[in-house]
Amino acid sequence: MPKYDRNFTDELRERLSVVDIVGRRVPLVKKGQNYWGCCPFHNEKTPSFSVNEEKGFYHCFGCGEHGDIISFVMKSENVDFKTAITELAAQAGLKMPDYKPKPASQIAREESYYQIMSDACDIYQKMLLDSSGAHALEYIRRRGFNDDMIKKYRIGYAPKNNIIANKFINVKQDNLLATGMCRRGDYGLYDFFRDKLMFPIFNAHGQIVAFSGRSLDGSEPKYINTTDTELFHKRRTIFGFNFARDAIHRANRSIVVEGQIDAIQMQCNGFPETVAPLGTALTEDHISMLCKANRNIVFCFDGDAAGQKAAARACDIVMPFLRDASDVKFAFVTGGKDPDEVLKVGGPVAMQKIIDGAISLVDFLWNAANAGFNVSTPGGRSQAEKFIKQKTDKITDVNLRVEYEQEYKQRIFNNWHKWKKNSQNIPRIDMPTVDDITKNTVIFIVNKYPQIAERYGDFLATLNINFDENVPDINIDDKSAEKFIVSLKLQKYMARLQSEKKDLTAKLLAGENVRDKISALDAQIRDAQQKIDTLVTI
Ligand code: UTP
Ligand code: MN
Repeated sequence: MPKYDRNFTDELRERLSVVDIVGRRVPLVKKGQNYWGCCPFHNEKTPSFSVNEEKGFYHCFGCGEHGDIISFVMKSENVDFKTAITELAAQAGLKMPDYKPKPASQIAREESYYQIMSDACDIYQKMLLDSSGAHALEYIRRRGFNDDMIKKYRIGYAPKNNIIANKFINVKQDNLLATGMCRRGDYGLYDFFRDKLMFPIFNAHGQIVAFSGRSLDGSEPKYINTTDTELFHKRRTIFGFNFARDAIHRANRSIVVEGQIDAIQMQCNGFPETVAPLGTALTEDHISMLCKANRNIVFCFDGDAAGQKAAARACDIVMPFLRDASDVKFAFVTGGKDPDEVLKVGGPVAMQKIIDGAISLVDFLWNAANAGFNVSTPGGRSQAEKFIKQKTDKITDVNLRVEYEQEYKQRIFNNWHKWKKNSQNIPRIDMPTVDDITKNTVIFIVNKYPQIAERYGDFLATLNINFDENVPDINIDDKSAEKFIVSLKLQKYMARLQSEKKDLTAKLLAGENVRDKISALDAQIRDAQQKIDTLVTI
């Protein structure tokens, strides 16, 4: 059996719901923590087969079968590991990676890369204390870094000259190029980082895989990072994770900030569970790394437009990772441009306030929909609803997705269809009350089809019905529902015309000259009757 990357199979388990996968073959019912059904692997009439969404596996108490989504597909479809993975990858929308075991030569090569990175870091650290690095040291001190922090994060200085190209004379040029530390120019190799404040980027095991260099003379770009190499994949690396991992377990959450200086200051000022993506937008790989510890994340982005955009993206990316127990929140920095500034000005207390003020993902998405579209118009509401649906559709946990959908349906109904809430205040026209069947049908329609409810809101409000009463279970599609309401409206209209006619007839009998009025009314009545007739025959 070929060796498959743990990351990939983890990713599959991460993305796909075991309840979904098993549920396609075995009808499952939720009881307590688990889902239950009749075991597909032995013959039984009472369910002893349980599926645990949180842990991602199934277990049969009857025959002892046990496994995860991969073994379920293998056993239930009688296919091999690779076929099962391929099938699941397609369902998860993931491309199958090509798997070859790592050859020894590659392992050796990577070892030498790690060595180069670590040696380079040593040199940069020394240079920070050298006279040529005085301005860098002065700068990082001014940014609030003490000696312990400088040491822990192995911060250094890359001098103006080509120190790596010159000092690594015994190292193969190809390797220096492959680590991204040097580039080839007309006169040989030159250093990628020059006159930069250097932040090493560690992988999850604490090995240096790249650097991020900050410009010290105000030149742009502010930061340059090692471009992707064999060791370093920006999409998969999240700054500070190696330091934060234990804290993420302890605190039972992670905090995601935008910049690496923010992450360091957070880690050193009471929020050791903080990490930062590296100048890239957040990726699924980043979230997947964090989610292995737990699914509780506070996104803490800058208060500017870029921060809003980053938050919107984070929201998109995190949806498939949501589970019942996930607690995903969004905090927005105020009182400074980023967490680093907040900590500098107001200390951990100010930062704690911001974290405490974080809003839930449910609210974040709701706010985004309200802010992004003009929900006072039907078109705007329709767009906003589509926007919300697009997001909730990404939730892979089916139960949870349904709960989210219900939540937003309720919010839409309560907030955007205000006529219903205000219906108590609308002056009532004196109308005969409706019979129970009509009443139930209306209650059903109003709850099932908010768009229809909205369209005929003014009319529905006159019906004197409490729409929050138990919603009956009626089978009627939206077209018929609309016809029903229109016809009801016409009938009510007819009833009013008839009663007006009665009044006029009384006046006529009393000698008043209202003949013209009566014939006008007759025309209206005929018209309404005709409309009702066509409606019934459509
Ligand atoms: P910011 O511009 O918010 O950086 O970019 P910052 O952390 O506040 O920078 P300081 O405080 O002025 O030093 C956030 C992150 O985006 C990446 C870096 O990782 C930075 O930490 N970035 C930013 C780049 O990669 N390149 C840039 O030119 C700017
Ligand atoms: Mn900053």
